[in-house]
Formats: sequence, structure tokens, C-alpha cells
Amino acid sequence: MNSQKPVALVTGGSRGIGATIVQRLARDGFHVLINYSSNEARAQAVLDQIQAAGGSGELCGFDVSNSAQVDEKIEAAAKKSGPVAVLVNNAGVTIDALLMRLKDEDLEKTLDIDLKGAIYCTRAVTRQMMRARQGSIIQISSVIGEMGNAGQSAYAAAKAGLIGFTKSVAKELGSRNIRANVITPGYIATDMTGALTEAQKEAILRTVPLGYLGETEDVAALVSFLASNQSRYITGQVIGVNGGMYM
Ligand SMILES: NC(=O)c1ccc[n+]([C@@H]2O[C@H](COP(=O)([O-])OP(=O)(O)OC[C@H]3O[C@@H](n4cnc5c(N)ncnc54)[C@H](OP(=O)(O)O)[C@@H]3O)[C@@H](O)[C@H]2O)c1
Repeated sequence: MNSQKPVALVTGGSRGIGATIVQRLARDGFHVLINYSSNEARAQAVLDQIQAAGGSGELCGFDVSNSAQVDEKIEAAAKKSGPVAVLVNNAGVTIDALLMRLKDEDLEKTLDIDLKGAIYCTRAVTRQMMRARQGSIIQISSVIGEMGNAGQSAYAAAKAGLIGFTKSVAKELGSRNIRANVITPGYIATDMTGALTEAQKEAILRTVPLGYLGETEDVAALVSFLASNQSRYITGQVIGVNGGMYM
């Protein structure tokens, strides 16, 4: 049964930035597909909160780095709930290592999830969006993809790769009224940044003109705008949510 609402798929929607994005899009009136890879209980808790607040959604578990699974699950979800109108490629991992010590398997995992995963998901929704002659694709990249960081070369490569990929998609699909943009968050308080020591956090904050870590809502607010028709003339752009850390 198709949802009466437009459908938004958020990868890695079970926690952190992704969980806040699905909550925001549900409040904005989307039927949200909450993707996760391992943590079904956390994804279910996010869905429960959405439904308790009067929103609608469903779980959509798959590993973004498995292209066959991506195609199968996205097609099944569209058959059930309707074509995906908004895709937010948010799922990501960071495995930090100095280049000399970077292991092949860590490089592959980072590129597979952070870059190829976003490409697989974008490819999987393209046909649906072309048929509907509308769509908004939003990549959650990182300020690290713009400015680099010692110890994060694999992550930076994946996140910078998303920028070139998205500009190409924007050029390829613009005539079909499909927009594609990149958000580059700076340091946002989540599980990912929870692993930083106090000394590391202090060092980072010295580079942030606004002087504090961002919150997941800061990213979700921009996603909400890019998902809406208010941003209808914005495509192929890279927009920072970073407290001024990179300009
Ligand atoms: N936090 C920051 O400061 C910051 C800054 C810049 C950019 N970002 C980017 O923002 C995004 C979200 O970051 P976060 O801090 O919210 O991360 P997080 O708290 O670590 O959450 C990561 C999410 O990605 C999902 N995920 C991981 N591997 C996956 C896979 N193979 N397939 C599907 N889902 C997968 C996780 O699902 P499970 O729960 O099932 O594991 C989880 O929902 C990432 O792309 C990250 O690079 C974050």
C-alpha cells in the first residue's frame, strides 16, 4: 500500500545525525524509511518516537555497501510505500589511521560504506525519481572532505569523492527536476565524536570561530530545507554546517 505522504529514505537513520534527520523529516510530513545496518533496536526506538509524535515511517535495514541488498530493499520499500522523493545518504564510518599504517581492509571498508554506499543508494533511487520527474538527493559528507585531516586520509578521500559524484549527478539529472547537494558538517556531538578525548575536543574548538560543537539539529535543519521546494533552484552545491571552521 502506497503512503499518502512523500517518501524520504535516510541511510544510517538509527542514531546520531541520521536519527535527528528522520525525526525532522517525519515532522515535515514525510513518510520516513529508516535505514540501519546492525542496530535494529535503536532504529525501532527512533520509529516508535516518530509514531508517538503522530508521524509515519518504517524500518528499512540493509548494508549500504552491499549493492544487491541496496537494490532489492529500496525496490521493495518503494513498492510498499511509494517512490523515494528524498534520499539522504548519511550512513558513514570513520576508521582513523596515519597513512603509513592504513590497512587495506580499513581503506576498503571506509570507501565501501562512505563513498560506494552513497553511490549505490543514489543509483537505486534514480529510476524512481526520473519516473516521478522530481527528487532531492542529499549527501552527508564532511568538512574533512574539503580541508583534509592528518590521520583521516581514507575518510577524507571518501567524503571528497562524494562531492565530485554529487556534482555529476546534479548535471546528469537536473533536466529531470532531480536535485543533488552535499552537506559538509563540521564537528557535531554524536557517538562518532564521543570517541574524542577532552584534549582533542579543545584543540578542535580552537579552530571553530563560533566556539562550540554543532548539534545534530543543525544538520537536520539544512536537510529539511534541501528536501523542500524552498530550495528548488539549488543543486550541485556544497554547503557547510561547521561553525565557520572551514570557509
Ligand atoms: N559527527 C560528526 O561530527 C560528523 C561530522 C562530519 C560528518 N559526519 C558524517 O555524518 C554521518 C553521520 O555521522 P554520525 O556522527 O551521526 O555517525 P554515528 O553516530 O556513528 O552513526 C552512524 C550511522 O551509520 C549507520 N551505518 C554504519 N555503517 C552502515 C552500513 N554499512 N549500512 C547502513 N548503515 C550504516 C549506523 O547504523 P547502525 O546503528 O545499524 O550501526 C548509524 O545509523 C556520517 O556520514 C559521518 O561521516 C559526522
